[in-house]
Amino acid sequence: MGAREAGLPEVVPDDAGSGLPESVVIWEVGARDGLQNESSVVPVEVKLELLDRLADAGLTILEATSFVHPKWVPQLADADELLARLPRRPGVVYPVLVPNERGLDRALAAGVEHVAIFASATETFARRNLNRSLDEQFVMFDPVVTRARTEGLAVRGYLSMCFGDQWEGAVPRPQVIAAATRLLEMGCSQISLGDTIGVATPGQVTLLLRDLWAAGVSPDQVAVHFHDTYGQALANTLTALRAGVRVVDSSAGGIGGCPFAGSATGNLATEDLVWMLDGLGVRHGVDLDRLARTSAWMAERLGRPSSSSVVRALTG
Ligand code: HMG
Ligand code: MG
Repeated sequence: MGAREAGLPEVVPDDAGSGLPESVVIWEVGARDGLQNESSVVPVEVKLELLDRLADAGLTILEATSFVHPKWVPQLADADELLARLPRRPGVVYPVLVPNERGLDRALAAGVEHVAIFASATETFARRNLNRSLDEQFVMFDPVVTRARTEGLAVRGYLSMCFGDQWEGAVPRPQVIAAATRLLEMGCSQISLGDTIGVATPGQVTLLLRDLWAAGVSPDQVAVHFHDTYGQALANTLTALRAGVRVVDSSAGGIGGCPFAGSATGNLATEDLVWMLDGLGVRHGVDLDRLARTSAWMAERLGRPSSSSVVRALTG
């Protein structure tokens, strides 16, 4: 008998009294972050079915794809076709990544309502991921944000390498805070703090969020985006929730990674997050069994088992 059939997890609300929320918004990035890093290109039909199943499982924010240069990320070269064929569900938003005005043109033509720009906190990753210097990336993003807002779109700003960079090592917190506040001043309504290579530990999360709040950033403006390379993503997420964050990025089945950051592996698995939130009595709106079955189905399509412990436990 699996843990699920045995009635686990028992709901035991956290009594540390340190501000866990009643509910959390899950920002599902599987179709974008998950599939951008696959060695093979996943057929558009499979992507459409994945998005459909994720919506069936109750997820309401489904990051769908990226309008980036198709030669840079061939795995998402079908972004225009995907959006053209994607049936929109009421109550579900489908954000897409756009790096520049060309990407925004394509996103607008596809009828999207929510875009995300993606900046780097470090010089090296800005060059590797965007072919721009740290300063030049903001010059590229500025007109994108202005025009997107004029068109009535919501704009999220990702910030990568917030907790460590494989080329530069430790990233000074003031450098991260300067880039984060720049994204907000530019007009992003939310920033998502990325641990792109999955090296962060909870103490770092506490300190970065403390310094961000001290710099005048509100917890309502911040989401967290942890990759799970060193198995710390869930602990980091719990730390961020206790510090006031209410929006968490995760990917179904724990797929994901950035092709331009060699040691990036999968995101925090949505199932692992949901299992923890269930146990803590924090609402999220997701049907865990349905989601786990979707990730098991996707794992078959990708030809390898899910990296999520919860998916394996529930579907094995
Ligand atoms: P570039 O080569 O410097 O581009 O790439 P350019 O501005 O010099 O333009 C060159 C040509 O590309 C032009 O065509 C443009 O029109 C075309 P030409 O005039 O020569 O015929 N072009 C485009 N075509 C289609 N769509 C576009 C586009 N842009 C230019 N959007 C660029 C600069 C930013 C485009 C490139 O570096 C790029 O596409 N980078 C994307 C990298 C990426 O997608 N990385 C993964 C996402 S980030 C991530 O995963 C981290 C995150 O998960 C958070 C975390 O984990 O930390 C978000
Ligand atoms: Mg990522």
